[in-house]
Amino acid sequence: MYDHQSLILGAVLVAAAFASAQSTPALRDAYRNDFYIGVAINAAQITGQDQRGDALIESQFDSISPDNALKWEKVHPQPDKYDFRLADQYVAFGEEHHMFIVGHNLVWHEQVPAWVFHDAQGNLLGRDALLARMRDHIYTVVGRYKGRIQSWDVVNEALNDDGTLRPSLWLKIIGPDYIEKAFQYAHEADPAAQLTYNDYNLENPVKRKGAIALVKKLQAEGIPIDAVGIQGHLVLDSPTPEQEDAAISAFAALGLKVAITELDIDVLPSVGYGPTADVSLRVRQDPKLNPYVDGLPDSVQQQLADRYAAFFRVFLKHRGALSRVTFWGVTDAQSWLNNWPVAGRTSYPLLFDRNGQPKPAFQAILGVASER
Ligand code: GLA
Repeated sequence: MYDHQSLILGAVLVAAAFASAQSTPALRDAYRNDFYIGVAINAAQITGQDQRGDALIESQFDSISPDNALKWEKVHPQPDKYDFRLADQYVAFGEEHHMFIVGHNLVWHEQVPAWVFHDAQGNLLGRDALLARMRDHIYTVVGRYKGRIQSWDVVNEALNDDGTLRPSLWLKIIGPDYIEKAFQYAHEADPAAQLTYNDYNLENPVKRKGAIALVKKLQAEGIPIDAVGIQGHLVLDSPTPEQEDAAISAFAALGLKVAITELDIDVLPSVGYGPTADVSLRVRQDPKLNPYVDGLPDSVQQQLADRYAAFFRVFLKHRGALSRVTFWGVTDAQSWLNNWPVAGRTSYPLLFDRNGQPKPAFQAILGVASER
């Protein structure tokens, strides 16, 4: 059992782990009393193929979101076929590492198969049939992970940039109460789960006004909504930290939790398109739009670090209302921004570089935690 040698070995191992933890401070420890520090993880990380990525996820973060594993097209590719292989591994990964596990997402206009909205003859479904399909999907997916997924993005991106409802097939077929129904079904499937409305550009006051109206309507009707997710796909010059501050304050004032759900900061030129995270946008390749193929100049690296620091000062100010800050990816190599909205660019939006090394932005965020 516990002989002398194994006791000494144990002590040495503990000391080594302690020393290594001290030399590489963890973001999640720096913000432990403030909010979760989350990260979106991909299939290679969920399945253990990306060991370097996994080491960073396990040491730096205490919450995970699935980048794609729980989207409708992945878990429910055909009317009578659910496929939970990857999603099961995702949830098991989070449990193994004692993480706050996020479900993303239930009702969205993207990455949802066309069959969802059509009958076997290819005709558009009617309201009742689509509601039944939505309920079956939500009950099955949320029900499977009841008590294990702590927070669900129930409806994703229901709003246009002008704050009106996006004319998705959900809206066209069901009507505006598709949002209420989605929240109601999710609550019935797991009454304890935190339920979130998630969208981008909520820093824009016009779009935010629409989101506030939407939330107030749900609240007036007694629909269970717990949180608003501000995606946080930022670029170098927009939005301002003050606008982020205003957005968090506005949703917190409604009595909701606020989460930053998909944080990244694009440093590449956005010529020809404004601030957006509309995944359907495509812009033609052009070398002028891909200036840092051979590496990021120090000056831009510093701008990125300063901007992350400025936003984390805002986040800390709202530590009471903010439940988590989740980055949309671990390293620059895996970011969606290498391929959106222009394919094949070299992008630098995250905290770890292509070799998994922490960037100045990482140190800057740690620094903000110790300013207190
Ligand atoms: C949106 C979605 C995410 C992801 C990103 C881009 O923000 O909510 O799931 O698809 O776009 O990768």
